[in-house]
Amino acid sequence: MSETSTAAGGIAACSITLQLNGEHREVEVYPWTTLLDLLREQLHLTGTKKGCDHGQCGACTVLLNGKRINSCLTLAVMHDGATLTTIEGLANGEELHPMQAAFVSHDAFQCGYCTPGQICSAVGLVG
Ligand code: FES
Repeated sequence: MSETSTAAGGIAACSITLQLNGEHREVEVYPWTTLLDLLREQLHLTGTKKGCDHGQCGACTVLLNGKRINSCLTLAVMHDGATLTTIEGLANGEELHPMQAAFVSHDAFQCGYCTPGQICSAVGLVG
């Protein structure tokens, strides 16, 4: 991790690296950027949903080093060098991850908004 630029007020952004959905990524984050906001606002991986933004709903669940985590409750800068999998990274090309396929075959979507978080959480449970 290294400091690379500053925001208004002189607060430095940091450069971190992630193995994100199988790709090496280097991103700049401010110290207050949550992992959820990094994914959605900077990297445009909008499959991870912002529901409560307070750690209560699980819509933002992703897999961090293979374990489920609420991405709204953790700062991106804390995870330099981590391996991160979002809902976008579960499928193998056009082939759904078995958990995604199970959700489809069992009509488990409800309204669908938090389904990506449910699927990531389920993968973390059995993985
Ligand atoms: S958005 Fe609800 S737990 Fe993170």
